[in-house]
Amino acid sequence: MSTEHRSGGRERGRAEERNTRFVRFAMSVAEAERLDEVYRKYMVYLAAGGALDGAVHRTIAQAISVDLARHAPKLARQLARARAGEIDASYITGLPTDPEIARGVLLVITYAIGYAFNFSTQNGGKLVMELRPDPNSSQANTNTTTDEFRAHTDDAAIAGSCRVGWILLYGIVNPPETVTGYAPIAPVIKRLSHRTKQVLFEKRFTVRVPVSFKLGDDIWTDPVAILSLSDTGATEIAWPSYATKPVDERDQEALDALAELEALVDQTMVHVPVDPGCMLAFSNVRGVHMRSKIGEGDRLILRTYARDSLADLREVTQDDGPIFDTQAVIAARLR
Ligand SMILES: [Fe+2]
Repeated sequence: MSTEHRSGGRERGRAEERNTRFVRFAMSVAEAERLDEVYRKYMVYLAAGGALDGAVHRTIAQAISVDLARHAPKLARQLARARAGEIDASYITGLPTDPEIARGVLLVITYAIGYAFNFSTQNGGKLVMELRPDPNSSQANTNTTTDEFRAHTDDAAIAGSCRVGWILLYGIVNPPETVTGYAPIAPVIKRLSHRTKQVLFEKRFTVRVPVSFKLGDDIWTDPVAILSLSDTGATEIAWPSYATKPVDERDQEALDALAELEALVDQTMVHVPVDPGCMLAFSNVRGVHMRSKIGEGDRLILRTYARDSLADLREVTQDDGPIFDTQAVIAARLR
């Protein structure tokens, strides 16, 4: 077999591995309709959103999981696989397109993955965040810019036990040629050189605290590692590509490691349009995401944040949630 053929096989292998961690799922019409029913049953609670206390949210999450398994079993199985760490991202199509129903369905699916929460200063501290570009925004790499929003994980400046675990994006309006990208980190790790991997596991980096946290526009964390291992042995990543630098800016080995990571992430990225009735639900710790430049016209994406547990957020903020004080969370990291 020629070298060309062998490398073709390798490429296919990589694509397959990427695809097993990034799964596409089309809802059947029947399941999508029954999803509406689940939403309607809980709409009074869901409409109250962040105004309800944490205990009510935990009760709702459990009840919804049971109902979802009964009414939309294929979707429930898919979400259970995500929760168990078997897949890192799910692109779900065929969901309701009506904006009000979408809001409720998004929360139903969020609760099936984990506990919905938000930070107080982010998007008005709402449980369901509205992402709209601002044509006058000059802030690069934020949700308001219409330019490309480069590869990143959200909230890398926050301690891992408080960081968003799952991000769910639900399309309401999406201009043509506007895509969201996701790269599971597992296949990237396998292709990184041994030395680069070692360097990325070392606390040789610092990341900038997002401006939206309102602590200042040039605050950087204490030394952090880009890669870490979870309790279950999965490699996790915390990396805003545009706001990460070596602690020692002359650390060429660290700079080279970041460049190698960025190149491999770009090659691995899978792009999908988050169109009306489409959802992209992905792990914020086992992969990296980005958004292309936004095409002509309006855009509105609904977003939720979820975690398996809110215990650490509750502890550092001394609040039951589900909306947590941003400054208390970031202060716990910077302390
Ligand atoms: Fe993001």
